[in-house]
Amino acid sequence: MMSVLPGPGHISFARGVPAPEMFPTEELAEASHKAFREHSATALNYGSPGGFPPLQEWIGARHAASPERVLITPGSFVLLSLLARLLVSRSTAVAVEAPTYDRMSALLKRADADVVSIARSARGLGEAQPSIHSLLESRGACDLSVLISSFSKTIAPGLRVGYAILPERLALAMADSVLETYVSPPLWPQAELYEFLRAGHWEPHLHRIRALLRTRRDVLVERFTAGLLGRARWEVPEGGYFLWLELPSAINTQQLLKASAAVGVSFVPGDSFYPGEGGASCARFSHSYPTLDEIRLGADRVVALIRARLDADGPQHVAT
Ligand SMILES: Cc1ncc(COP(=O)(O)O)c(C=O)c1O
Repeated sequence: MMSVLPGPGHISFARGVPAPEMFPTEELAEASHKAFREHSATALNYGSPGGFPPLQEWIGARHAASPERVLITPGSFVLLSLLARLLVSRSTAVAVEAPTYDRMSALLKRADADVVSIARSARGLGEAQPSIHSLLESRGACDLSVLISSFSKTIAPGLRVGYAILPERLALAMADSVLETYVSPPLWPQAELYEFLRAGHWEPHLHRIRALLRTRRDVLVERFTAGLLGRARWEVPEGGYFLWLELPSAINTQQLLKASAAVGVSFVPGDSFYPGEGGASCARFSHSYPTLDEIRLGADRVVALIRARLDADGPQHVAT
């Protein structure tokens, strides 16, 4: 059976998977007991396509939207997929940031959409800006935007809970798509999540995992700084699971990955995140799963391969 987790002896910087110590297991166990006591009659049954109503209300209140506009799904990717099915067909114009989520790029490619990439720096926006959704909503244009989010990275992907805030008309069409696709979302993890959130566990948990991620990020950055300063470029991410590495154009990261896999280390080559051309000398490193020792060892192995390649080619600069 295929697993997203790396096999023994392999160090993976590839997928954005949380390390086991990032899961709030005790709080989830407590929430699960509570959900069982209070919601088993409804949450173990089929439900409406929109999701577990108390969680729809909780999410709606957080985004100042009516619960009818909240669609809770098994993760957020299925939302992208259902939305693409409703809104995107051959030659539909779609603008995305580049680099962008690789599975989304693949989805748009399959739909034969006319994709326009908007370049962004490795830093993204830097300082956080209000979302397009919140700007439109604050001007009363609730029918023009969709906000999609997920509890996968901030609590646990195995819960499979993502959601969208949709314009009312689209919410109805999406509910029909849900019925035609999987009939009813799994309500049980939604009830468990609801009790977790209601007990106030989320903020302290975020505080804890931010510290874990920061330590991992710092080790990765320290190894890249030690081995690649002046020969590659990266921005220190302010949060999240990923670091984007930009190498001189002489290095093709698909080829680098082959050499790296041979020494037991993987990452994702940058071209996977570009709907068109681009990213061939870039790579995405996720520091969320490996241990600190694995991050040190894995980063040093990749750095050694990069340095050997650059030394063989003479002085190189990262393209600006
Ligand atoms: C940028 C981005 N969007 C969406 C997803 C899908 O996550 P989920 O379906 O677990 O919410 C992922 C998962 O890795 C992701 O990295």
